[in-house]
Amino acid sequence: MKNHPACRRVEQWKIYDRIAGHGIYADVEKEFLPDARYDWTLLAEIELFRSTISGYKRVLDIGCGTGHPSLHIARDVGSIIGIDKSERMIEIARNRLRRSGIDNIVFEVGDAVDLRFINESFDAIILCGSLATLSDKKKSLQEIRRVLKKDGEVACVEANWLYKSVHERYFEGEGSFVLIGTDSIRFRYVRRSVCPNKEVEYRCIVNPGSALGKKLLSNPHFLKHKTLETEMGIEEVEPHCDEIEYDEQESFDVETISNLFAENGFKDIVTVGYGVMYDLLDSAGLVDKMGSFMRKLSRAEATFSRFLDPLKTEMLFLTCKRDSTTTGRKVVKRKEQGLRRISRT
Ligand SMILES: C[S@@+](CC[C@H](N)C(=O)[O-])C[C@H]1O[C@@H](n2cnc3c(N)ncnc32)[C@H](O)[C@@H]1O
Repeated sequence: MKNHPACRRVEQWKIYDRIAGHGIYADVEKEFLPDARYDWTLLAEIELFRSTISGYKRVLDIGCGTGHPSLHIARDVGSIIGIDKSERMIEIARNRLRRSGIDNIVFEVGDAVDLRFINESFDAIILCGSLATLSDKKKSLQEIRRVLKKDGEVACVEANWLYKSVHERYFEGEGSFVLIGTDSIRFRYVRRSVCPNKEVEYRCIVNPGSALGKKLLSNPHFLKHKTLETEMGIEEVEPHCDEIEYDEQESFDVETISNLFAENGFKDIVTVGYGVMYDLLDSAGLVDKMGSFMRKLSRAEATFSRFLDPLKTEMLFLTCKRDSTTTGRKVVKRKEQGLRRISRT
């Protein structure tokens, strides 16, 4: 596929640049809704970040998007700089900041592989869902380490691939054709692989004059419904395409994410799991009844996340230090909350 002249790899930040302004990246104030499964998760991660970086003076948010979670935790820290490679995300983040009345955040366009800051500039660095989207993770983590103070801390949120592969239907590849206008045919194809945990999404434009294009444009079902699920794989559709664009996203489980930080020199790595509260309430038929308490319940989930088995949770929350504060395997006492966690050095 990679040698096909019309096949172009697109970096993840460009995909985010395109979806800025839509869905959870919309330019509106986020209202947390009880019946939205994902909102319970967002609230829990705000509390996880808050409890970890509360009290730190200078914080850097890498891949800040439209400002989650920085806009929610700004009042608990000295100041935050949020950077994102997508100009459109930053524009939205700035609009939200303006409306919020918060005055200790700066959002700016920046690339994780080439941070403009001098060595040891920050007390804490956060990444919320952005690590998986960074195209050069090694270089980015080296940059993060460089600009972090010696006793600085990193906090990172990522989805847990193991949960996804158990709870969602695992597929080899899944494709569909979409008719736009009268003769423009798009083909979207998603393929997931395990080891490495990777998701590749292809977006293709089928030539209407090709054999496949002609066949589709004479199919009454396709013309009527405008979409058509297909068993055809990308290899079969590729010869009929004018243009193919794809992006790759690597996903993590507790082991791969911990190893990635360890390989890049970080110490005291602790990974806990969260993202189960909604499912628990839903299975007990209690989402609506408990909706008014969603903030409190999400906060509670953040607190008991360290007791959950991170192999079974939807999300992962990793914390680590630039340099080790412990020797060997040891229990670290966290001053501000008295939490006890097992550290890996
Ligand atoms: C999943 S979104 C998360 C956004 C936000 N943190 C949130 O939780 O809503 C990942 C973000 O990382 C950004 N990103 C990807 N590669 C980047 C890079 N090399 N440097 C800076 N930001 C990057 C994307 O543009 C995107 O906004």
